[in-house]
Amino acid sequence: MGLFSDLDGGVVGGPSILAADFAHLADDVGKARDGGAAFVHFDAMDNHFVPNLSVGPLVAASLVPHTDLPVDAHLMVENPDSLIPAFLDAGVASISVHPEAATHLHRTLAMIRDGGAEAGVALNPTTSPETIVWALPYLDYVLVLSVDPGFGGQSFLPETVGKIRRLKEITGLPIAVDGGITVKTAPLVAEVGANVLVAGSAVFKGDPAAEMRQIIEAGRGNAER
Ligand code: DX5
Ligand code: ZN
Repeated sequence: MGLFSDLDGGVVGGPSILAADFAHLADDVGKARDGGAAFVHFDAMDNHFVPNLSVGPLVAASLVPHTDLPVDAHLMVENPDSLIPAFLDAGVASISVHPEAATHLHRTLAMIRDGGAEAGVALNPTTSPETIVWALPYLDYVLVLSVDPGFGGQSFLPETVGKIRRLKEITGLPIAVDGGITVKTAPLVAEVGANVLVAGSAVFKGDPAAEMRQIIEAGRGNAER
């Protein structure tokens, strides 16, 4: 049971907290939920793996009791193993790590699952889909970065579409897409099999409920079934 294992081929969407107002994080997440969000995407950055610093397990632990949505942690950090126990304690529902930053990926994914969360890999734009073939038995989802991780508000990289198609073929896993997702790009990724739409600036640039709803509907209108 979990966000990704329960998907059943449908398309869902959720807000990336990076574009939210951190002083009113739970309120902003609640607004996106009113627009049909199925999860919250929680971006952790360490200023080493990516050139930016965001929030960590303490903020996740504060947020979890204030939302009934599953919190999906995206760890853009070096040495993720040292932070995973704290994120599990915080009560997140799923954790994705970058294989580019994990030295022993099998051990890292096992740590996530053993802690009761769903385990994912997050792939940088130029990381090959084939990289994860031997990790498939230990994975619940793949998070495809459609921008270089580190910042919100960047433009969607069009090569992502072919990459999602390939990942769908070789993994059969739920595919989440993160970076530059808008009402225009959501249909492009859903058409080739993306199930989980993460959107930051496109949600929080206006009324989060309305923007979230439009992005989800745009994806569902073009979903590959
Ligand atoms: C990028 C983060 C994303 C980011 C997406 O490093 O992983 O989750 O918030 O932001 P937008 O939707 O603005 O591209
Ligand atoms: Zn992210």
